[in-house]
Parts: sequence; C-alpha cells; structure tokens
Amino acid sequence: MAEYTVVHDAAQFVRNRDEGLDAVPDAAVVVEDGTVVAAGPSVEVVQEYPPENAAVAINADGKTVLPGFVDPHTHAVFAGDRADEFTAKLQGKTYQEIASEGGGILRTVRAVQETPRKALVRNLLSHLDRMLAHGTTTAEVKSGYGLTVESETKLLEAIREADKRHPIDLVPTFMGAHAVPEGWDTDDYVDHVIEEQLPAVADRGLAEFCDIFCETGIFTVEQSRRVLTAGREYGLTPKIHAEEFERIGGAELAAELGASSADHLLQATPEDAQDLARADVVPVLLPGTAFALDAEYADPEQFAAAGTTVAIATDFNPNCFSQSMEFTVDLACHGMRMDPASALRAATAGAASAVDRPDGPGRLREGDPGDLVIADVPDYEHMPYNFGVSTVETVLKSGEVVHD
Ligand code: NIG
Ligand code: FE
Repeated sequence: MAEYTVVHDAAQFVRNRDEGLDAVPDAAVVVEDGTVVAAGPSVEVVQEYPPENAAVAINADGKTVLPGFVDPHTHAVFAGDRADEFTAKLQGKTYQEIASEGGGILRTVRAVQETPRKALVRNLLSHLDRMLAHGTTTAEVKSGYGLTVESETKLLEAIREADKRHPIDLVPTFMGAHAVPEGWDTDDYVDHVIEEQLPAVADRGLAEFCDIFCETGIFTVEQSRRVLTAGREYGLTPKIHAEEFERIGGAELAAELGASSADHLLQATPEDAQDLARADVVPVLLPGTAFALDAEYADPEQFAAAGTTVAIATDFNPNCFSQSMEFTVDLACHGMRMDPASALRAATAGAASAVDRPDGPGRLREGDPGDLVIADVPDYEHMPYNFGVSTVETVLKSGEVVHD
C-alpha cells in the first residue's frame, strides 16, 4: 500500500458537502498522494488505514479537523506598513482624509516602487507564515501597489516566486486599477492599464484574475467595465471591489460581466444580492475591513436570502493588517452575526468558489486536496466562541504537516 497520512480519533471531522457543512464525531481522515482517500468514523477508517503503518499518524483526540481556510481576497504583497495611520484614524481622521494628505494606498505605492522584488518576496513569505499559522492553505493575492508596468509585474513576479517557496497555494490577481497614480488623469491611466499593463501581465502569464477598485473618486462603473472587459479578452476573469463606501453600481456590473466575485459590498442592497445570485457571482464579505474602518458590517443575511454562496476573506493590506482567517471567522460571527457553520463554510467552500475552485480546496470530500487544519477545540462551534485566540494547532497541506 502507498504511503498515507492518517489523522485519527478526532472529536469532530468537518467537511463541506453540496448541502452544507457536515460534522462527523469520533472521526478519522486519510490522505494519500495529496488527496483525501477516506474519511468517517475512526474505528472503521483505522481498520483499513492503521496508524502504525502510516507515514504520518496524528492522534487528534479531543480536537476538531476541518478544511484548510481559503482566503479569497488579500493585498498581501507590499512594502512597509502604515501603523501610524492606524493611530491617526483613532484620533479622528478618516481613510479618505489620510489618502488626500499623501497617505493611504499611494504611500504604499511609493514604498513598493523603491523596493526590489527580492525584498517583496521576503515580506510576502513572512505574511504567508502568519496566514498559515492561522489555518490558511490557499490564498488569493492581488497586485495593485505598483501602478506602472514595471512595478505591477514586479509584484506579480514576487507572488509567483513566493508561491513556489511556500506551502500556501497562491492565486494571483492583477489589480493595476487599484488607485490613480499622482499626476495622472483617470481616463489616461485607465488607457495605460489596458494598453500597457494588461498585455505585459498577460504575455507573461502572471495573473488569473483582474480586479478594480470601483468607487466614487477612484474608478467609475464605466471605467471598471472597460478594464474588466479588456482583462477578460486577455483571459483574466473579472473581480471587483464594489459598493464599499458608496453604492454606485459595481455589484450590477459584476453581474453583467459574470465576475467570479464582488467584494466588500458594505452598501449593497437586497436587489444587488439578487443580481449577484442570478449571475452566480460570489459575494466576498470582508469583516476585518469594516472593523478596521469602524464602519458598519456588510449584511450577510441579504445574500443568504438571495440563495447565493457567500465567502469571507481577510482583505489583508496595510489598512487592514490581519493575516488571520480565524479572526475573520470570529468577526463574521461576532460582528456580522453569521452562525459558526455559515462562517466556516464561507471561509472554506464559499471562499474556494470565489477564486473559481469550486471542486478543489476547502471541502475535504474524497478526492479533494488533503489541506486540513487540526484545531484544539472539541467542535467547530468552539472556534468563534473562543474568539481572539488561535485554536489552530496543526496545518497539513496535501497531507504533509506544514505547521505544528
Ligand atoms: O480592499 N479598497 C481598496 N483596497 C484595499 C485597501 C488598500 C489600502 O488601503 O492599502 C481594500 O480595502
Ligand atoms: Fe481589497
């Protein structure tokens, strides 16, 4: 028999089925050649896959085994940080005021433009280590702090290199339309993104998705349509930052274009939720951002009522400085009032759908990747219940222990 990893005697094993989250008590799971080959009651599974014959055997007595988290929205590759802006916000400044004084996204852009690719890779790897320690095994990462051909491709190359060197699987997104660089007219910059940046990114196969910040004062719906349509012509699937500060029609555009996801949605309405559901666009809710901005949370109920899959993500970036999907799950429950099963589904199977991997990670059915988390809690409900601490103890990627 081939070598296998068995995690046995877990208090609870959690997986995603099409119908919803499924929890099996006193369970074991077996991973062989990177994929799940058996899962179910421990007594039965260990008969076929005895721990003593396994390459790796982990006794998960008293613990919960669940799919590794998929983080479907991060801006994890950048230089420096903006801790001082955090303090300024607490002293009363708004995100927009800080930006208009030379801070915010454009400050990080200046830092990135001066930072060599190697240092960006180092930064990204250190952030990925924290993400992994909190249970993330797949993460989307956006460019968008470059805003020139050279710096946008530098960021995407850093993502590619970090992907090769780190156990977390990375999903690269091109977001040249994240902000308008200093001294540029917005329409001219949109032309530059479409005519110069996109072809350079696509030629080198550096991205899978194309994203844009569709927001009052940043990019309009019409400019977003142009960028995302051009991206699609180059083979990049659209994503959109929509209805964050103001509702201007980004969700409707996402539905029109059949985007893989529409993200933020703090100001979205039930009609937007219906549009997204009809077009099979996954709403990605980012409770950490609302928390960091002291804004009102998105309303997960309206998306659930529309019958759509919901995802949650960290939105890890210099303005929302948390790499932790555990914390995101905590906030989804305590802030957005999702129940633990819905929040954990949104952080796993829902999140995988948001990055167009509906049949891959985040599920743990037989045949799925053996990416799993062992948490030191008796059942999944205890993860958000025991908020503000890490309950993730061990992380396995393709059946291999990558964090302990
Ligand atoms: O998703 N909304 C735009 N982009 C980021 C913020 C980036 C930053 O402030 O550096 C977001 O929240
Ligand atoms: Fe974002």
